[in-house]
Amino acid sequence: MGIKVLDARVAQQVAAGEVVDRPSSVVKELVENSLDADSSRIEVELEDGGTSRILIRDNGNGMPPEDAKLSVLRHATSKISAVEDIEAVNTLGFRGEALPSIASVSAFQITTSTGEGAGTKVVVDGGSDAEISATGTPKGTTVLVDRLFYNVPARRAFLKGSRPERASITETLTHIAVAHPKVAFRLTEKGRDYLSLPEAGDLLERLAQIQGVAKARALRKVEYESGAFKISGYAALPSLTEGSRSHQTVSVNGRWVRGDNLHRGLDDAYRATVPGGRYPPVAVEIEVDPRRVDVNVHPTKQIIRFSDERAARAAIAAAVRSAIEWRPPNASSAPRTSERAFAQDRLAPPPEYRPKDNEYAAARAAESSVAYSSGTSKSLREVREEIYAASKPTKERAEAPLAAEELPERGALPRLEELRVIGQLGAGYILVEEPEAMWVVDQHVAHERAILDRLHDAENPASIQSLLVPEVVELSPGDAELAAGNLEELAVYGFEAEPFGPRSVRVMAVISTLADRDIVGAFKNALAAISGTDPGRRREDHILATIACHSAVKMGDRLSQPEMEALIKSWLTSRLPATCPHGRSICYRTSLKEIGRKLDRH
Ligand SMILES: Nc1ncnc2c1ncn2[C@@H]1O[C@H](COP(=O)(O)OP(=O)(O)OP(=O)(O)O)[C@@H](O)[C@H]1O
Ligand SMILES: [Mg+2]
Repeated sequence: MGIKVLDARVAQQVAAGEVVDRPSSVVKELVENSLDADSSRIEVELEDGGTSRILIRDNGNGMPPEDAKLSVLRHATSKISAVEDIEAVNTLGFRGEALPSIASVSAFQITTSTGEGAGTKVVVDGGSDAEISATGTPKGTTVLVDRLFYNVPARRAFLKGSRPERASITETLTHIAVAHPKVAFRLTEKGRDYLSLPEAGDLLERLAQIQGVAKARALRKVEYESGAFKISGYAALPSLTEGSRSHQTVSVNGRWVRGDNLHRGLDDAYRATVPGGRYPPVAVEIEVDPRRVDVNVHPTKQIIRFSDERAARAAIAAAVRSAIEWRPPNASSAPRTSERAFAQDRLAPPPEYRPKDNEYAAARAAESSVAYSSGTSKSLREVREEIYAASKPTKERAEAPLAAEELPERGALPRLEELRVIGQLGAGYILVEEPEAMWVVDQHVAHERAILDRLHDAENPASIQSLLVPEVVELSPGDAELAAGNLEELAVYGFEAEPFGPRSVRVMAVISTLADRDIVGAFKNALAAISGTDPGRRREDHILATIACHSAVKMGDRLSQPEMEALIKSWLTSRLPATCPHGRSICYRTSLKEIGRKLDRH
């Protein structure tokens, strides 16, 4: 077959694949156009999850007839005129591609009016020439996309069915709504609301509309500025997590983006405090000089590139970390907001064990498990003040008086000197008294939390301790061989070991927290992590968590009064006392009032 120049219509249909691959990408493009037109209300109506019909109605500026005619032509845009303009672009669109792409693969219709003179209707069927007519319509624009991909059967075959497509649209629209709290959004199908978000006063109110007031209370305010980046928004305490990233929204200069690099920055912030595969809700906006980001690296403009990618990742990590970190007001050192890596002298992994960025990349594709609740604006406004109080930066909160029933999970812990260790219960729990309440602390989990924090602390590194009597660990021949082949990596985690016969290994030194504790258990688990997980951060986190777990006192260990006091102190002065590596509860708190009630003291 000889070479032929493709017919313009076919070329457009092929190119459309880059911009639209499913109904949610159509919704994203059209909603972004509505936002660029300064709409304050955007409604999306679907049929069959958008696979049969998508209608988007906005109350924005609309287009005069000449523009409406041009809008469906390729490379027709009102947003830039020279390539340099992209550098400072402040609109979401600029490529002049979305409408012609969508119009080439659907039965497409746009009705628009600027509110002056007659409105205009433009009809395009599968990329045919546009039919233009005058029509009466209120100010704003309505776009109708019927039978998406009806003329590209191969693409249509890839659609996943009404429910998953609708879930993807809901997720997309939710992210955009978080990035634009002052705009009202509504998503309906067959008269049912899938999303109903009245205009919100600010981001926190929008998050409360989406996630519910209870979850919004677990959010902490993010306010951070460093170098080229100004970052603001909200981040959940690690005790609140979801099974996917659907509640993590990052926007850059008003554009909702998805980027592995930024997601990794979020993961860095929550490192060692949330279990793998769990994602605390986050909504942050990054403001950066537009010349430092390239928004034109991907047709959907969702992936962007920073001139300094590492700095962007570090900044988002530091911003979120400083919002969620909590230190008791009397703790000796100031809140640590700098990048904290596992980098102890002797424990620093040699370069070959340093995770490479792409090794632990986002193979964790977010499932689209979407279950958004919509609230009414009235009740939201009523509780808004309350949420505000609860989400103040933690430094400010430390000064505020404690609400009587407030749980430590909420980030509010009393001063250390106000606490008294009463004793031990069932050789597993430490009872602690504070002025108005009693705590029952899980001794193992609290200790584990404190130790893990220490293992991740680059400023105050844990040391390696030689064992007076080396520990001989009995293994299967296979595991003994595995250990022998990985002595260097084991040494990275403090295990100085050598082969000791065909079925055992002799451990001569360990991280000091592990000396006198369950060395055998920790060693075996570390070995299992080395054979069962890929090298990288997850493996490192896993091994450190193993060491912390086996170093910690156990359920059933009797503790002396000074031991209990030391344990409580090191737990409460750790970075995130209220969270445990496995997401378990650490402390149960009951107020004296509640105890009084139980004993009929009214
Ligand atoms: N809802 C709308 N309200 C007002 N004008 C609109 C609307 N949708 C599109 N337009 C106009 O039509 C033009 C073409 O839209 P299109 O989405 O194809 O391109 P773009 O937004 O400029 O760039 P991109 O392809 O990057 O989205 C826009 O530049 C804008 O002037
Ligand atoms: Mg556009």
